Amino acid sequence: MTQQEPVTSRVEDGIAVIRIANPPVNALSAAVRGGLKRAAEAAAADPAVRAIVLAAEGKTFIAGADISEFGKPPVPPSLPETIAIFESLSKPVVAAINGAALGGGLEVALGCHARVAAPSAKLGLPEVTLGILPGAGGTQRLPRLIGAAPALKIMAEGKPISAKEAQANGLVDEVAEDVVAAARALALKLAGGTLPAVPKDRTNLGAREAFEEAAAAILKRNPNNPSVEACADAVRACFDKPFEEGLAVERAHFTRLRDDPRSAALRHVFFAERAAARIPGLPKGTGARPVAKAAVIGAGTMGGGIAMCFANAGIPVTLIETTEENLQRGLERVEGNYATSVKRGSLAEDAKAKRMGLIEGKVGLEAAADADLVVEAVFEEMGLKKEIFGKLQEIAKPGAILATNTSYLDVDEIAASTSRPADVLGMHFFSPANVMKLLEVVRAKETAPDALATAMEIGRKLAKVPVVSGVCYGFIGNRMLARRTAQAERLLLEGALPQDVDKALTDFGFRMGPFAMSDLAGIDVSWRIRKAMNLKTAPVADALAEAGRFGQKTKRGFYDYSADGRTGAPDPEVAALIERISAERGITRRPIPQEEILQRLLFPMINEGARILGEGIAARAGDIDTVWLNGYGWPSWTGGPMFYADSVGLPKIVARLREFAAASGDTNLEPAALLLRLAHEGSSFTALDEKAAA
Ligand code: CAA
Repeated sequence: MTQQEPVTSRVEDGIAVIRIANPPVNALSAAVRGGLKRAAEAAAADPAVRAIVLAAEGKTFIAGADISEFGKPPVPPSLPETIAIFESLSKPVVAAINGAALGGGLEVALGCHARVAAPSAKLGLPEVTLGILPGAGGTQRLPRLIGAAPALKIMAEGKPISAKEAQANGLVDEVAEDVVAAARALALKLAGGTLPAVPKDRTNLGAREAFEEAAAAILKRNPNNPSVEACADAVRACFDKPFEEGLAVERAHFTRLRDDPRSAALRHVFFAERAAARIPGLPKGTGARPVAKAAVIGAGTMGGGIAMCFANAGIPVTLIETTEENLQRGLERVEGNYATSVKRGSLAEDAKAKRMGLIEGKVGLEAAADADLVVEAVFEEMGLKKEIFGKLQEIAKPGAILATNTSYLDVDEIAASTSRPADVLGMHFFSPANVMKLLEVVRAKETAPDALATAMEIGRKLAKVPVVSGVCYGFIGNRMLARRTAQAERLLLEGALPQDVDKALTDFGFRMGPFAMSDLAGIDVSWRIRKAMNLKTAPVADALAEAGRFGQKTKRGFYDYSADGRTGAPDPEVAALIERISAERGITRRPIPQEEILQRLLFPMINEGARILGEGIAARAGDIDTVWLNGYGWPSWTGGPMFYADSVGLPKIVARLREFAAASGDTNLEPAALLLRLAHEGSSFTALDEKAAA
């Protein structure tokens, strides 16, 4: 089969319509750049061509540079060169923006003489999310078109704007349903006249003071973000330097950032999140079941948050409780959450009313009868869950998906309590459910392929990042977290204090360390669970809880919150308590270097990740990274635990784990078989994923 040309050109009525067709998203691969250059040169040379329309096939205009080409040797023509050719044509070029014009895609449109966008089009420069800055003239052309301050905002936030907003700020000239027809008409109008290219002087930049003020605010909101800093610097060059020199400033930043390991990690994050959507072993053509209505059982914090996710996505949902009182409390909590968003200005009053209107509260499981998807979110108690699923098998309509939000329990056992285990799976949301992006979709032994496909699809509709996990205690995320928690406690007994442990993680890039997190969540929560299970794994946390130090809610926990209730200060009483427990256990405390603390926290997690991968609980190392990035605040510029492991070097991790295992006698710290194998072969988790994808 001959491959379709990625760029074609057709001349009709004096207009050359150059079309890009490079599915799925018309990324600017070398073949596309080459095709664009040839098409532009041919149109320039053809006397029958009076004007040019640049259009694209499919739903997207152009999604930007081909990210998979980064890190490989460059292939000419470069994107800046291609754009310069269009910009310098003496015939008008109009971009017909049918869908997303992102990154290099928007930069191509900026090199045209005018832009027409479809009402649904999105225009943006998301490069900062990849650790770079716009590198094909965007930092120089956009400010000169719409003003320096608004341009920097678009670059620094990385979020696309709508066609309507783009028209309002002068980025697009027209908004039209039929973009090609409108672009043709505009191109003809421009033919023969003076071409309205982006001005190369300072005419449109706006006041320098306004820009500096905006830049200072943006930099304050994004501390230590090299991409945002580079965007501000490149835009500033619009005031200080001629256009060509500004382009050189941009290029220098672009090359430096592109070659920085942080950008490589962010590119991994981009592809890992998308790969996580692919479910290995699903029969070809497996479709999702339609979900027009949902039900959530349990109106606690978690259930209410899950119901909000459905309402936010426009899906009607029934929130079910056992008593009217519990139901009202749950509904009030949901209403309160929305009211907070309205107060903060992130939600309009009428949107709140619309969302509340989609949530119907009911008492009794029978109310789940008309739902296509039922999410159970009651206490973590196997007996209770089995009872509910047993009843649901009768109540839920045939084909309805029966999901449990359990964090730890065996989904196979829950599924076995119904006569329809093929409909059962886990949908593990993370707290607060209406905010956190991660959704672990737990595939049980008997889960039907289309049920799994449905949960993944609905996850995306709820604006989550869904990742498939097999059944095991704690699934992917919490199973790994347990290793970190155990080490954190041990570090306290060996000589560290809570602030030392937390600092190791916050310096690494986590927003919070494990002890500050415990204080926020409440030390009593896990203490009660440990008591019920007769576990003695966390002597320090247990002693604090027994002393009534539950964390922020009692103003004392691992830290002292008496100052303002929220800011934790190191507490000498806690240090004394820890020292006492160390002494009782005959442990001689020693100063532990921060590097060792970090390795003790992260390497056992990576080791557990390798086990999870080896057992097939996760399909890819990238899936594990996606879980930690979206559910546990792992810093994205290190790529997630498994990508980070590759960057540290697997042999080093193996060696350190062996030392930790020998020093503690904990066989769990012995390197996992998969980790050993990859280290021995000189391979990596990334290479393993690539091999599996090939
Ligand atoms: N390069 C290479 N592949 C890309 C890509 C890109 N810029 N954008 C998307 N893809 C791939 C995805 O990896 C995915 O591949 P698989 O199906 O194999 O997983 C496929 O295209 C579809 O992508 P999505 O699943 O994301 O599709 P969507 O419909 O949900 O979203 C989109 C479409 C809004 C365009 C989204 O893909 C997106 O945001 N893309 C990235 C945009 C971006 O960051 N552009 C800047 C690139 S850097 C740049 O341009 C630098 C410069 O200045 C020159």
